[in-house]
Amino acid sequence: MGEKKLDLQPRLQALADWVRPGARLADVGTDHGYLPVWLRLHGVVEHAIASDLRPAPLDHARRSAAAYGASDIEFRLCDGLRGIAPEEADTVVVAGMGGENIAAILEASPWCMDGAHFLLLQPMSRDQQLRAWLPLHGGRVLRERLVEDKGTLYPILEVVGGAMPPATPAQCYGGFALSGDPLWGAYLEERITKLRRAAEGLRRSSSEEEQLRGAELEKLAEELCVRKGEWEHANCGGD
Ligand SMILES: C[S@@+](CC[C@H](N)C(=O)[O-])C[C@H]1O[C@@H](n2cnc3c(N)ncnc32)[C@H](O)[C@@H]1O
Repeated sequence: MGEKKLDLQPRLQALADWVRPGARLADVGTDHGYLPVWLRLHGVVEHAIASDLRPAPLDHARRSAAAYGASDIEFRLCDGLRGIAPEEADTVVVAGMGGENIAAILEASPWCMDGAHFLLLQPMSRDQQLRAWLPLHGGRVLRERLVEDKGTLYPILEVVGGAMPPATPAQCYGGFALSGDPLWGAYLEERITKLRRAAEGLRRSSSEEEQLRGAELEKLAEELCVRKGEWEHANCGGD
């Protein structure tokens, strides 16, 4: 068995590209297990723990490792990082979940912010909540990128324990370090559209509090619009 060729989809490949050679990996919420399998097959990591909250996805990961012939992967059924000891990994991937779920997993295991662990985080939604949470809980964003996969834009953040100033609302929605990313303009456009839609709904509310929140979101959309205009001017020759 084994020896099938594994091609990662762009979102997972972008994560794989940021894993340092020789790393000891924990892939939390591994599901199909393609990331640790690919990293082991290419000799990027020495050892990997593939973990999941549920038995069925973990079985899927086991089947992937067997089908592609990947060794030195441990499969662990556990909630977040609760079943993984700090010394077992130096690189933790938490990908393909909502930003609030990723933050809850990190919050339950504060050792991951000790400065000795690199965290690769890829929220599927509510990335603004994750960005707001990180500086308040000892996370310092080292770099950030966007990847397009089947027409959807996904952010990836590399984080290590350390200090950084609290995130501004514009950073929560537009990212900390994305202005050099060729996909930033498209990402901002998506965020602006979502913010305006939310603001419109809130402003129609009879609650004064919600109307105020709507006005705040509209202001934030305007701020992102200005940044997008400046970015396009700098990157697209001002068209
Ligand atoms: C959509 S899949 C993402 C799979 C893979 N990480 C990726 O990015 O393609 C999400 C996986 O996370 C698992 N999961 C959700 N919450 C979890 C938690 N608290 N701890 C461990 N796994 C979790 C789910 O069971 C599911 O298999």
